[in-house]
Amino acid sequence: MKIFIDTANLEEIKEAESWGILDGVTTNPTLLSREDGNFRDNLRKICEAVNGPVSGEVVALEADGMVKEARELAKIHDNMVIKIPMTTEGLKAIKKLTAEGIKTNTTLVFSPLQALMAAKAGTTFVSPFVGRMDDIQSPGMEMVEKIVKIFDNYDFDTEVLVASIRNPLHIIQAGMMGADICTIPHKVIKKLVSHPKTDEGIERFLADWKKVEK
Ligand code: G3P
Repeated sequence: MKIFIDTANLEEIKEAESWGILDGVTTNPTLLSREDGNFRDNLRKICEAVNGPVSGEVVALEADGMVKEARELAKIHDNMVIKIPMTTEGLKAIKKLTAEGIKTNTTLVFSPLQALMAAKAGTTFVSPFVGRMDDIQSPGMEMVEKIVKIFDNYDFDTEVLVASIRNPLHIIQAGMMGADICTIPHKVIKKLVSHPKTDEGIERFLADWKKVEK
């Protein structure tokens, strides 16, 4: 499984990168709005900090506007992937950008059929939003299971990028289902590493070692 971090904060990205587990980054307009400075400069710095795909999102709603914005974002760095919202205009833009060799991440996906449509248009990644599905009492991971199965049945190259992750259980389930990527907020990535029994074990080993050193 590839692990992306879902943030536009450079410090969080550099920290996760330093742990040797980071394969990419996803941002969105909300995440970029929380950071100081120019968003293009911020995306460029993120691309320079991580050796992997970095998603930045268009805000146009019409296909032509999306394509224009996407071409500009793609110029920022070779690692840029363009997030396109899951609409019919989005599908048109994905088709065009894919033909131009620009990678896309279809975002705001809330059903297996939306994912299938995005894959048919040639998108590189599809982002089902599991936490926001859970929020409306519809299990987000059930949608992911169906998307993985459909993509496997027809050998689509599109990768399943599980987004809107809120807790470690989402990641275990994604792994069991064979989803390609999880994009995870910084505070959740930290939870993947720590365990109270690990801390307790280290403490006990260090206490016992002091007796050996005497
Ligand atoms: O990548 C999409 C993700 O950032 C959305 O997460 O927690 O706002 O639903 P959330």
